[in-house]
Amino acid sequence: MAVRVIVQEPDPVLHKRAKEVTEITPKIIKLIDDMAETMYDADGVGLAAPQVGILKRVIVVDCGDEHGLIEMINPEILSKEGEQFGSEGCLSIVGINGDVRRAMTVTVKGLNRHGEEIIITGSELLARAFQHEVDHLNGILFTELAEKLYDTTERKGKEN
Ligand code: NI
Repeated sequence: MAVRVIVQEPDPVLHKRAKEVTEITPKIIKLIDDMAETMYDADGVGLAAPQVGILKRVIVVDCGDEHGLIEMINPEILSKEGEQFGSEGCLSIVGINGDVRRAMTVTVKGLNRHGEEIIITGSELLARAFQHEVDHLNGILFTELAEKLYDTTERKGKEN
């Protein structure tokens, strides 16, 4: 496993649609392992493959809940319920947070590394992470959806 470089906005790779994984090769397994390590190294709760420069539909999420590390290939949001409104950030957009309206609960279907179908329903932070990461696969960043953006570096400066 290896920590990969996290691509930063405004890199064009972040704005492209990632392609479906058609075969789970050793390269894809290595990608998933590296993405998890990169996410933990950066203290994130989720990461999508385009963020390490790979336009494949692969995400990893770990919100520190009972699910632990979720690895998902070709994730698809099957249903959305309710609404939540809150602060969100992104490892590819350092120093900016924003208030984003998201579904409160989502059910997501995808494949695990063995090619088996997995379906997970999550609420609150987990639902937010799923929606954020699936957006990444479609080239959408939270800053495009946010109703209000905050410069967190500036804020920190003011507090200090
Ligand atoms: Ni992100």
